Amino acid sequence: MMEPTIQQLFDLTGKVALITGGSGYLGQSLSNALAEAGASIVIASRVRERGRQVASKLPSPAGARHFGVQLDQLDDESLNTGFDEAVAAAGQVDILINNGQQGHALDLTNVTVEAFNQDLKNASGYFFLARRFRDHIVDRKAAGAVVMIGSMYGVVGSYPDAYEDVCTASPVQYHALKGGIIQMTRHLACYWAKDHVRVNCLSPGPFPSEKAPQEMVERLKQKNPMRRMGEPHELKGALLLLASDAGNYITGQNLLVDGGWTAW
Ligand SMILES: NC(=O)c1ccc[n+]([C@@H]2O[C@H](COP(=O)([O-])OP(=O)(O)OC[C@H]3O[C@@H](n4cnc5c(N)ncnc54)[C@H](OP(=O)(O)O)[C@@H]3O)[C@@H](O)[C@H]2O)c1
Repeated sequence: MMEPTIQQLFDLTGKVALITGGSGYLGQSLSNALAEAGASIVIASRVRERGRQVASKLPSPAGARHFGVQLDQLDDESLNTGFDEAVAAAGQVDILINNGQQGHALDLTNVTVEAFNQDLKNASGYFFLARRFRDHIVDRKAAGAVVMIGSMYGVVGSYPDAYEDVCTASPVQYHALKGGIIQMTRHLACYWAKDHVRVNCLSPGPFPSEKAPQEMVERLKQKNPMRRMGEPHELKGALLLLASDAGNYITGQNLLVDGGWTAW
C-alpha cells in the first residue's frame, strides 16, 4: 500500500469543522486554517448573524460552503440546538473546535462565587458539545477529531509581575477552568479512542490582542524566551496537525504554542 503523502494527510477536503468562538481574535485564524485546508466551516456564535458574517469571509479553495449557527455554550438548550443546526446546515460534522470563552475580568482578590462558577461552566459546555459530537460520529460510523482550546495558564500559574499596578491578574477561575479542560481532554481521549474520536488540546501562550494593556504586554514579552508575543496565525499549523489525518495517532495530548513560556 502506498503511504499517504504529506499533502493528503493535511488535506481537509470533504470534512466539516464546527468551531465555537470563530468570530474571535484567535478563532478567525483558526477558522481560516481549516478553510484553507479545504474544510467546510460552521462558525458557532452566540449571535447567528455574526457567525454568518464571519463564515461569508472565509476562503474556499476547494469550493466548500461555510455556515453560521447560533450556539451559547453556557446554555444547555442552545448548545444542543446549535449542534443540530450545524448538522442540518452542513450535513455532518467531522471536526469540533471548542474555542469559545466567556469569562469575568475578576481575579483572586475580588471574584465572587457566582462569577467563579459561571466561568467554570465553559468546561461543561466544552464537554457536552464534545459528547454530542462523539455520539454523532458513532451514529455515522465515522471518525472524528476534537480540539479543545486550553491555555498555558492551564499548565502554569500566573506571572504576577506582569499585572501588578496595571490591571487585574489572570483570573484564578481561568486557571482552574483551563487546567480542567486539559485534564478532561486526557479523560475523554481514553474513553473515545475506541469510537474513533481523537481528543486533543491546543494551549496558546500569550497572544494579546490590541485591546490588551500595553504595559502588561511589554512585561510579558520580557518574560518570554522569544521576547515577543504570539501572532494568531502561529496557531494554524498546530491546529491543523491535531485536526487532520496528519495527527491520526495523536490523542489525549496538550500541545503548547507559547514561544517557550512553559519551557522554563
Ligand atoms: N488570546 C490569548 O492570549 C489566549 C491565550 C490562551 C488561551 N486563549 C484561549 O483561546 C480562545 C480564544 O480566545 P480569543 O483571545 O480569541 O478570545 P475572544 O477574541 O474573546 O474570542 C472568544 C470568542 O468566544 C465566543 N464566546 C463567548 N462566549 C461564548 C459562549 N457563551 N458560548 C460560545 N461562544 C462564546 C465569542 O464569540 P461570539 O461573540 O460570536 O459568541 C468570542 O468570539 C479562548 O478559549 C481563550 O481562553 C487565548
